Amino acid sequence: MRDRFQREITYLRVSLTDRCNLRCVYCMPPEGIGKRDHSQILSLEEIEEIAREAVALGVRKIRLTGGEPLLRRGMTGLCRGLRAIPALRELTLTTNGLLLAEMAGELKAAGVDRVNVSLDTLDPEKYRRITRGGSLDAALAGIQAARDAGLTPVKLNCVLIGGFNGGEIPALAALTAREPVEVRFIELMPIGCAAGLGPEAYLPCEAVLERLPGLEPLEPDGGVAERYRLPGAAGTVGLIRPLSRCFCGQCGRLRLTADGRIKPCLHAREELPLRGLHGPDLRRALEAAVRRKPERRGELSASVPSEAARDMNQIGG
Ligand code: 5AD
Ligand code: SF4
Repeated sequence: MRDRFQREITYLRVSLTDRCNLRCVYCMPPEGIGKRDHSQILSLEEIEEIAREAVALGVRKIRLTGGEPLLRRGMTGLCRGLRAIPALRELTLTTNGLLLAEMAGELKAAGVDRVNVSLDTLDPEKYRRITRGGSLDAALAGIQAARDAGLTPVKLNCVLIGGFNGGEIPALAALTAREPVEVRFIELMPIGCAAGLGPEAYLPCEAVLERLPGLEPLEPDGGVAERYRLPGAAGTVGLIRPLSRCFCGQCGRLRLTADGRIKPCLHAREELPLRGLHGPDLRRALEAAVRRKPERRGELSASVPSEAARDMNQIGG
């Protein structure tokens, strides 16, 4: 299905929960979030029903996110249900990796194709600081388990943060030398908590190109990342530049929040409620969301925050 600007809408991101077993400083408030009543969150059956309707309208790729999607009880059953939708081409998830050591095999068996894992630093103490208490070893064990289970190619999401991980760009990129992983440097978007970190926290992807002048550009693969390779490396380096390059022109996404609202644009306030809608009503609401996709986001920079009125843990990136 195409939107008003002739963009084909093929990608649905689904937040399964706003809870997380970490509290990254750019994503969650320090006190964490209050426990929500189950009734406020979409049931797994509702999610599958919405996903089926979205696929009927042309969605071909679904990514499960959070918060932390692996915390949602029954999520592997949902994965099996989604995988059984014939026209769905790709089922992926974005996770902090902490639970992958125990779940990777089960996820692969349930039909998950591959995973993106958040990894902002390779220093255990800094990892604890940025995630407010997480264990780097657990995340690395999760990444290894994902590779062993064949949830590949694994992509590692590294949010660039001024004064925090700029110095680690070469070490993080070096993870691609021998393993066929993609390390993706992502510009910090000033959304929710991240907006409170101030403009100094913004480090443009240009910093990666400056520190790694040997990076060789690769052909685009249809995603939003610009792709590069270190000479002779097995893996690739991706740059995701939501601030320094606007990629709205290629945006084929819809986002479903854990509480059942569809967001036509990550950076806009607008959300359309889907709860309680079925069949043709549900389809019309999804079509309306596609029609409501703006041509591009509003202004967004280190000093101009996103218009999205939520923290990232509720949207799922
Ligand atoms: N800007 C950029 N990326 C973010 N993520 C979470 N919050 C932000 C933000 N403000 C990333 C996480 C995770 C993915 C879901 O989105 O690091 O990898
Ligand atoms: Fe959890 Fe990911 Fe948010 Fe960190 S960025 S608190 S791992 S949802």
